[in-house]
Amino acid sequence: MSAPDFSVAGQHVLISGGAGGIGSAFARAFRAGGAEVTIADIRPPAEDQGFAFETLDVRDDAAVTALAAKIGTLHVLIHCAGRLIRNEEHKPDVFRDIVDIHLVGNLRLATAFRPHLARTKGCLINIGSMYSYFGAAMIPGYAAAKTGVVGLTRSLALAYAEDGIRVNAIAPGWINTEISRRGREEEAFNSKVMARLPTGRWSEPEELAGTAVFLASPAARLINGVTIPVDGGYVAS
Ligand SMILES: NC(=O)c1ccc[n+]([C@@H]2O[C@H](COP(=O)([O-])OP(=O)(O)OC[C@H]3O[C@@H](n4cnc5c(N)ncnc54)[C@H](O)[C@@H]3O)[C@@H](O)[C@H]2O)c1
Repeated sequence: MSAPDFSVAGQHVLISGGAGGIGSAFARAFRAGGAEVTIADIRPPAEDQGFAFETLDVRDDAAVTALAAKIGTLHVLIHCAGRLIRNEEHKPDVFRDIVDIHLVGNLRLATAFRPHLARTKGCLINIGSMYSYFGAAMIPGYAAAKTGVVGLTRSLALAYAEDGIRVNAIAPGWINTEISRRGREEEAFNSKVMARLPTGRWSEPEELAGTAVFLASPAARLINGVTIPVDGGYVAS
């Protein structure tokens, strides 16, 4: 038997929210594996790391359609764009906006790029959260959207199977990026999370990247419709 094939060399990967902490770590990991990476984000990266960049608001139907028309070959689409607004998401307008970014944006990108992924028998990687499994009193829109990502991932996996496209998700644990900064800085919140977390520390975005690369590789060809917690054991505890 030959060694399992974990290669992503030669693949073209599009990462929404690719200017952010997790998206840019994914971009670096895929590039290190020989892939070509395009990042798309509502804002440019703070530091130019040499990736192709497209300005994109994932809430904008026309902008997503225009990007799909511009991009030729695509093997991997990762929906990493995200934001949360603590204590504001009980307001219906804010709730709707957060769901639009994380969940409707996920579907919007998937629908626009399905033909590209069908041509390459590619894959979609969605991003869940610990709030795919637990409630969040301060960010109900975020938690609803991230719980929805699990169901969307299963549903798109079934729908796209006829095109040979796999659809999976990663549910990151507690990662040191901008979106989680206020939680890290708030002592009461931080100590509650750390008390439950077997690793007892915030993780770096790079620690998620191997799972994304694996999911895009031939070695993962039988994995479809699942959400994988990459969380240092938080869900288990
Ligand atoms: N950091 C964590 O602890 C953690 C845990 C679980 C899940 N996540 C998820 O991981 C993903 C990446 O987050 P991150 O940790 O890298 O945070 P981040 O804040 O560093 O990155 C988020 C990126 O999304 C972009 N973005 C926001 N709204 C957008 C829009 N409308 N259109 C396009 N881009 C938009 C931002 O500009 C930013 O670059 C998000 O879905 C987040 O919910 C993060």
